[in-house]
Amino acid sequence: MEQERGQFSSKVGFILAAAGSAVGLGNLVAFPVMASKNGGAAFLIIYLFFIALICYPVMMAEIAMGRNTTRNPVGAFSVLSDGSKRWRLAGMLAILTPFMIAVFYTVITVWLVVYIKEISIGGLEYLSDENTFSEVVARPSLFVYLLCLLAIVFFILLGGVKDGIERLARILMPTLALMLVLLTAFVLTLENASAGISYYLIPDFSKVNLSVINGALSQAFFSLSLGMGILITYGSYFSKQDSIPQSARMVAVADTSIAFFAGLLILPAIFAFDPNTNTDDLSTSSIGLIFSFLPKIFLSMQAAVGYVGASIVAAVFFTLVFFAALTSLVSIIEIPISCWIDELKLSRKKAVGMQALLLTLFAVPATMSLGISDFFTNFTSYGGLPKSFFDLVSDVFYETILPFVGFTVCIFCAYRWKVSGLKSELVVGDDRYEGSMLEKYINFALGTIIPVVLLVVFISTVFQIYFA
Ligand code: PFF
Repeated sequence: MEQERGQFSSKVGFILAAAGSAVGLGNLVAFPVMASKNGGAAFLIIYLFFIALICYPVMMAEIAMGRNTTRNPVGAFSVLSDGSKRWRLAGMLAILTPFMIAVFYTVITVWLVVYIKEISIGGLEYLSDENTFSEVVARPSLFVYLLCLLAIVFFILLGGVKDGIERLARILMPTLALMLVLLTAFVLTLENASAGISYYLIPDFSKVNLSVINGALSQAFFSLSLGMGILITYGSYFSKQDSIPQSARMVAVADTSIAFFAGLLILPAIFAFDPNTNTDDLSTSSIGLIFSFLPKIFLSMQAAVGYVGASIVAAVFFTLVFFAALTSLVSIIEIPISCWIDELKLSRKKAVGMQALLLTLFAVPATMSLGISDFFTNFTSYGGLPKSFFDLVSDVFYETILPFVGFTVCIFCAYRWKVSGLKSELVVGDDRYEGSMLEKYINFALGTIIPVVLLVVFISTVFQIYFA
């Protein structure tokens, strides 16, 4: 069974894989837009504060739970609570959440593939038309792309931890960083780009209110892939020789740097398109922004570099987003797979096969939710709005539940496993943790302020989405 579980080859392997999971649509699109709407650098400062004081400790707690038990989330909660049924339930929530997130993230990734294909056959102008997105998401041919994507993802996962997940991250993460730097350098040469930079980097504290603070924490939590069971599982593949605090810090720095760079790309691009952009008018949804707004921005670059040049820039950007989405997708689908391997004692091959079947079963209706099937498109309604099956999954598992899972992790580590248990794992591979300021902070905050803050964010999100 140990062989089926696998392990990362080194600390760097772990860091790249965890960063591969963390860097996704959240960094490349959601963060730049949130920052620009909410006071630029003022938002960034609040965001950094949450990364350091709330997210970093939760991150270490998740990794420690996994490494200590060498188990998936269900197993980890169960082993550390001596088989408590109630805590096992918390573990199940940490499996159900990634399972469902994978469903709609798969659909978004399929759209990315379609966009890359359209751009490469000269369709940038077509994509920048307002009605294109709703036409693309209702194409029955999406199923062909869906099957191809699932085949690639599950092929990678069949390779296991070292030869599948880690190898993918080793190739894609440096490529992604390079593409991001090159694209940013290009966009900064455009006329009016500097207006975007000023907008992004000059703090405007007058825009900061409670809902901005709430949004910054949710975004930070989401961006680090917390509350998704991912770091518990990745922790279970992490060597006892290496330091959790140090590695978690590297992942947080890498993730935050990429988000920051994405801001330097997106904001100047938007301002180069229209120097009088009112960022309040930008869509709040990442999906609206990537698929409907950005193609227009890229098309406008034809004035500077011609249609082919603009198409190349767009293709590079969408490929970059696709790489980020692919590494995140692979990470999240691994969570239920590790559960099937540990808890059902399946071989990796069987676990991957079972998960492929289950995911397809849910991804098909999610794909049909944007026009292909009327039933799934008008699936339900709440908060005064009609909602599709896709919306439902996204609202419940992507937008709402993560801080709650984070809350259960904190309460569990502080009061069931106890800070002494957590500490005994965090000192393994790290001789500087014991007695450090970090240790004192975690001992105090993990059972007090951190869970309280997460609970407040969870409750306020529930009110916003479901009772607006
Ligand atoms: N950290 C990812 C991001 O910022 O986009 C969040 C994520 C989403 C991870 C979906 C994995 C995933 F499948």
